[in-house]
Amino acid sequence: MSIITWTEQMSIGLKTFDDEHKKLVGLLVTLSDAMRAGKGKDALGAILDELVQYTVTHFAHEERLMLLHAYHGLAEHKAQHDALTQSVLNYQQRLAAGKVMAIELFGFLTDWLKKHIQTEDKKYAPFLAAKGIS
Ligand code: FEO
Repeated sequence: MSIITWTEQMSIGLKTFDDEHKKLVGLLVTLSDAMRAGKGKDALGAILDELVQYTVTHFAHEERLMLLHAYHGLAEHKAQHDALTQSVLNYQQRLAAGKVMAIELFGFLTDWLKKHIQTEDKKYAPFLAAKGIS
């Protein structure tokens, strides 16, 4: 199982988004703990729903600020958000149909978010910082 914990390496230098990323990591840890405790499909599904909902809210927040400040990389960044959202929705459908295990979605989401935060989100951070976002 992929394990995720918040580290300073994940900080993009903007408190607003570091706090949201920390919440995402916290939800992944909650999901991991529930899987370890052998929680059932319904309990895992409820945590996943919250995780997905918060991820969508977080993506929309980033995109809103990028649009507001005319960030040049918005289209590319949004395309990555959209692709992840679509993948997770597909996973959720397969999970509900019993065709995939929660641990697979957990691994996929953990790896994707870690990589996205540490590479892609760090690209927009200096731009938004220069616009006064902290
Ligand atoms: Fe923090 Fe682009 O997601």
